[in-house]
Amino acid sequence: MSKRPVVLVVMDGIGINASEFGNAVKKAYKPTLDELWENYPHTEIKAHGLAVGLPSDGDMGNSEVGHNALGCGQIYSQGAKLVNENIDSKEIFKTETWAQLVKNCENGKMHFIGLLSDGNVHSHINHLKALIAQAKEDGVKEVRVHALLDGRDVPETSALTYVDDIEAFMAGLNDDNFHACIASGGGRMTITMDRYEANWGMVEKGWHTHVLGEGRTFTSAREAIETYRAETGVVDQDLPGFVITANEKPVGTIEDGDSVVLFNFRGDRAQEISLAFDGDESFDKFDRVRVPNVMYAGMLQYDADLNIPHNFLTYPPKIQYTLTEELCKHGIREYAISETQKYGHVTYFWNGNRSEKVDENLETYEEIKSDVVPFEQRPWMKAAEITDKLVEAIKSGNYDFLRTNYPNGDMVGHTGNFEATVIGVESVDLQLARVKKAVDEVNGILLVTADHGNADEMYEKKKKEDAPLKAKTSHTLNKVPFIVYGADVELKQDDNLGLSNVAATVADLLEIEPNEHWNESIIKK
Ligand code: 3PG
Ligand code: CO
Repeated sequence: MSKRPVVLVVMDGIGINASEFGNAVKKAYKPTLDELWENYPHTEIKAHGLAVGLPSDGDMGNSEVGHNALGCGQIYSQGAKLVNENIDSKEIFKTETWAQLVKNCENGKMHFIGLLSDGNVHSHINHLKALIAQAKEDGVKEVRVHALLDGRDVPETSALTYVDDIEAFMAGLNDDNFHACIASGGGRMTITMDRYEANWGMVEKGWHTHVLGEGRTFTSAREAIETYRAETGVVDQDLPGFVITANEKPVGTIEDGDSVVLFNFRGDRAQEISLAFDGDESFDKFDRVRVPNVMYAGMLQYDADLNIPHNFLTYPPKIQYTLTEELCKHGIREYAISETQKYGHVTYFWNGNRSEKVDENLETYEEIKSDVVPFEQRPWMKAAEITDKLVEAIKSGNYDFLRTNYPNGDMVGHTGNFEATVIGVESVDLQLARVKKAVDEVNGILLVTADHGNADEMYEKKKKEDAPLKAKTSHTLNKVPFIVYGADVELKQDDNLGLSNVAATVADLLEIEPNEHWNESIIKK
């Protein structure tokens, strides 16, 4: 094994786009990244679609599949694809869990909570449709949808498209024996879908909205969305919660004897609400006021180590032979750090959606608390604080492989604010200079990459030349950089290289044998 430490920096959401249009990465002043790119071995690698286990090359990359691929060196069929297959084959409805969910709500309602869009990052509206249709076929009488509005993986103000779509679908099924409708909802960044315990208050608000039926009331989701938009001007992901009523009563509070399915397949933003429904009596993250006796299931199991949730409809990918497992076998000491918003990305996602360590003695993970603010107001986020700790760790000599994720390009990119995102990218670059210096001091090797694009395309493509600019909040289909600094190597230039080729490259640089299951290294031999 090499005595030279290897440091990997994931610049979240910083992809490569040749066009200047809406490109906050090109616009940013980033002397360090430019210098690294110009003077050191580099290549472009794929971070979307089939290269990261998504159903098609039309699917943009995301942090879950990106970090999974980086951390395991292989391409696994991911949640989006597994659920598609499970629904197409109807296997999902032959499971004991589905049968129990149906039976459990014989005298009650079946609730579907989840992100209502076709973003295919956390969920897909087609999966919801399949669940509702089958519920009817299996004799469920009442279905309620609790719709989290997206605008983050899909266009910024597209909520009504999906609301209209699902309502038309439900209207087509409704008859004397079956009734489905939207019962509550709200923007995904205000209720329910917090992650990594950044803000439990969001989940508490979601609980009040979906379960207790408390909050501002409207007679339809459309009325709620249009009213909030007119009053506040905020975009979909930030719309407040709403409760739908008929005759002044909520149409779908969650009660004893109901069944609840969270139809999101991705785990980070699904775990907290799952714990609120499915955790044990020790749950103390907020006062739930009333805890209905329901059967709860996830579309997937979001954490197999911690059994969150206990019931689920699709088995998650069983990610094996991770880089961490391999490094532990060789006694290599790992250090991982990020701020809350991406902490689980460099630990849980990185290690194949596992939150337990392989070897306590060899792995050190550090979290810097994220601010709870709109990130366009603080585009530098905690990049400097992450770097303080990372530089200390590099210099300590206690670690052989260190990794970090700087969230700025992605988290600020998701706000759709171009100027702020430029500053976000510049903040990453400033810190990259500090990391590079520390790497020099210990004679280490620095790898710079990204998990997917975002900041590289900040405006929706114009349909007509004179159309107004529209912010693009979602990820991109672009490739990402891969740079090696501090090692005299030649890199492959191959259109087929992707994030899953990084693990073997890290192994090469640490001078250990890559696991036989991994995709090839990017280094030419
Ligand atoms: C989110 O959850 O914030 C977005 O849907 C995806 O962003 P990420 O994949 O970069 O976390
Ligand atoms: Co993102």
